[in-house]
Amino acid sequence: MIVLGVETSCDETAVAVVKDGREILSNVVFSQIKYHQDYGGVVPEVASRHHLRKIIPVFERALAEAKINPAEIDLVAVTAKPGLIGSLFVGINAAKAFALAHDLEYMEVNHIEGHIYANYIEKDFYFPILALVVSGGHTELILMRDHYQFEVLGETLDDAVGECYDKVGRVMGLDYPAGALVDELAQRGKPAYKLPLIYLDKDSYDFSFSGLKSAVINLLNTAKMKNEEVNLADLARSFQDSAVKVLTDKTIRAAKEHNARQIIVAGGVAANRGLREALQAEVKKLDGVALSFPSLKYCTDNAAMIAVAAYFKHRTENKRS
Ligand code: KG4
Ligand code: ZN
Repeated sequence: MIVLGVETSCDETAVAVVKDGREILSNVVFSQIKYHQDYGGVVPEVASRHHLRKIIPVFERALAEAKINPAEIDLVAVTAKPGLIGSLFVGINAAKAFALAHDLEYMEVNHIEGHIYANYIEKDFYFPILALVVSGGHTELILMRDHYQFEVLGETLDDAVGECYDKVGRVMGLDYPAGALVDELAQRGKPAYKLPLIYLDKDSYDFSFSGLKSAVINLLNTAKMKNEEVNLADLARSFQDSAVKVLTDKTIRAAKEHNARQIIVAGGVAANRGLREALQAEVKKLDGVALSFPSLKYCTDNAAMIAVAAYFKHRTENKRS
């Protein structure tokens, strides 16, 4: 089964062609980051305009690289939510028009489910799975007992962890998106600053990152007023340690409670070295639990993950009917 996936929910215009839920025939991603950097974040109106400008060239390149004709495609799938509404519309309309013009089946996919299925490209799934979704817009712990069954155990009550990375990076003077740069700085620092670890209720799987973000901003502002030096590498490390510890502790607790056979991490922050190392160390202590992270190119937004998710959504719906 050949699925063409389309992703335009934020600032990447992406089209991919994937065979049988795993074989990547093409995966074209046009990143708009340079157009948003001056503003320190994604500007929705600017994003929609660049999606409009790039969607057809990106479609054409994905088809050419996959070396297939539209008639060979079995399903056209697109991210329908969540995301920036104007950006989503560009992808949805392009995908619908393409499906209609070539008389192909059309399906809408949830972006988060796409991030989760990015893991399947390189690793098999062993249920029950505990998925930690960490991106610029989302922080969720999701339990999957089978393909395409999602039970949300917890989510952020305020900032997403990636958003928190981006804001902390901005006050440190780093370019948007700052996550990878803060991660790099943290590798060179020591956990010298005391920052809050926010767990909420003892039994809760929800997250809250705004207090940690404010603590970092306050520390920088106070130092500035008092004309004191802040070691940015140490601050990045202290911030990363706090964020990673809460994410890791809740993930491991949920995995134990639900007897997960596999923990998968998804979304842009799955690229984070601190998170990878902490989870690897903790999962080693559990007996027989597999851990998987997507390769870096499948961590951030792409359309291959949308095509893979659609393949399983289609298979699951057909089994039920
Ligand atoms: O999944 P994604 O591409 O977009 C959303 O769906 O939001 O994630 C982008 C987010 C940004 O906030 C970015 O700063 C963050 O992922 N990110 C990282 C790292 N690489 C990307 N955050 C922490 N450490 C990283 N290495
Ligand atoms: Zn995303």
